[in-house]
Amino acid sequence: MKVVVSIGGSVLMPEPGSDRVAAHAAVVEDLVAEGCRVGCVVGGGGVAREYIAAARDLGANEIELDQIGIDVTRLNARLLIAALGEESVTAPARDYEAAGEALRRGHLAVMGGVAPAQTTDAVGAALAEYVDADLLVYATSVPGVYSDDPNENDGATKYDELSARELVDVIADLEMTAGSSAPVDLLAAKIIQRSGMRTIVLDGTDPDRIARAVRSGTHDGTDVVPAGVGEEPGYWAPDER
Ligand code: UTP
Repeated sequence: MKVVVSIGGSVLMPEPGSDRVAAHAAVVEDLVAEGCRVGCVVGGGGVAREYIAAARDLGANEIELDQIGIDVTRLNARLLIAALGEESVTAPARDYEAAGEALRRGHLAVMGGVAPAQTTDAVGAALAEYVDADLLVYATSVPGVYSDDPNENDGATKYDELSARELVDVIADLEMTAGSSAPVDLLAAKIIQRSGMRTIVLDGTDPDRIARAVRSGTHDGTDVVPAGVGEEPGYWAPDER
């Protein structure tokens, strides 16, 4: 099976250090050893936010800030590459074609951001669409998609399953609320809807949760199930669920 895993920067690098990166790399390598073709998209996390805040104070415009964010995502992608073995690309792919090419050659593709005015959420969805992945997994620092910001509202409930259209509606509502952060942004949700990509949003701080979700579809996050899909995908053995 072919899977794209989008790893949030705050998941991979909650603070500067190597432990988390090594643990995530080990899980990705296990999946590859089991025959999975994997594309990883890495976010910028707190480091990106700090650089962006500093550059904003210095008068950088929004596109310049995005470019700084992209550079940090690529820096984090390089850290993941440093932890991966020789199956991996040697540098973050700078566009979807390069990542797709790497996957076709049997390599593990790794990329950060690609263009201003978006985030790596959208990059993950676009890469999954481009390589026709079987599954897209968002490894975030929250347990799934909620009806509201769970940090702000005790009554927020987690969705176990959403259609892609429902995901777009929920995220659009969340993004209308100033300051609230959605685990996946609206552009990503729209790409997921357009492509009909089977998607899982989960808490990926423990990388074993990512592996379990990829191997068997079992997780405690949110399933985004494309319209018209009645059965579970064939790549998940029923006895593993
Ligand atoms: P992230 O994807 O980490 O953004 O990219 P985020 O969603 O704000 O971070 P998390 O998920 O909360 O950790 C960091 C920044 O890099 C720029 C954006 O400015 C983004 O906020 N970026 C990233 C782009 O402009 N284009 C891209 O393709 C990716």
